[in-house]
Amino acid sequence: MTPSKQNVLIKLRHLKPSPTSMVLSATLLSCLVLLTNTAHAGDPLTGKDIYNRCIGCHSFADNRTGPRHCNLFGRKAGTVQGFDYSDAMRNSKIVWNETTLDAFLKAPLQNIPGTIMGYAGVKNDRERADLIAYLKQASGSSECK
Ligand code: HEC
Repeated sequence: MTPSKQNVLIKLRHLKPSPTSMVLSATLLSCLVLLTNTAHAGDPLTGKDIYNRCIGCHSFADNRTGPRHCNLFGRKAGTVQGFDYSDAMRNSKIVWNETTLDAFLKAPLQNIPGTIMGYAGVKNDRERADLIAYLKQASGSSECK
């Protein structure tokens, strides 16, 4: 062992837990717990890539196989003018926000039985969070006004 390493070890051994250091480590520990428990905050940049799975049927500006996604947040499900929704979607009484989108996009057919959205869903929690962050950003963007 090099003398310097030995020195460090000796110093470490002589460090007595002071009240300050104990408070500090308790704080650090609770930060760590908070970080690992908090749901992943979505990253819209990554979400944009995941949205590529949707563009076969959706766009923000126009109705296609699926309804347009502009102004999605805060909108009642099944209410875009000129789009022919399923009764299941129209009668779902859902208002789109992070929570309702998360449940729907995880498993569309289970979340709204009878929906005509023929898509199995985004199973990965992190991917869904990223996708929803992107949906929120892009559906409220100036191009959507
Ligand atoms: C195979 C085509 C298809 C794909 C792929 C698809 N959708 Fe859809 N989507 C639809 C259709 C059709 C509807 C209308 C469903 C209904 O009326 O039951 C819909 C409805 C929706 C709605 C409800 C909108 C409203 O106005 O109430 C949301 C939100 C949505 N899709 C998001 C997505 C996202 C995000 C993806 C990509 C992960 C995606 N969809 C992939 C076809 C698709």
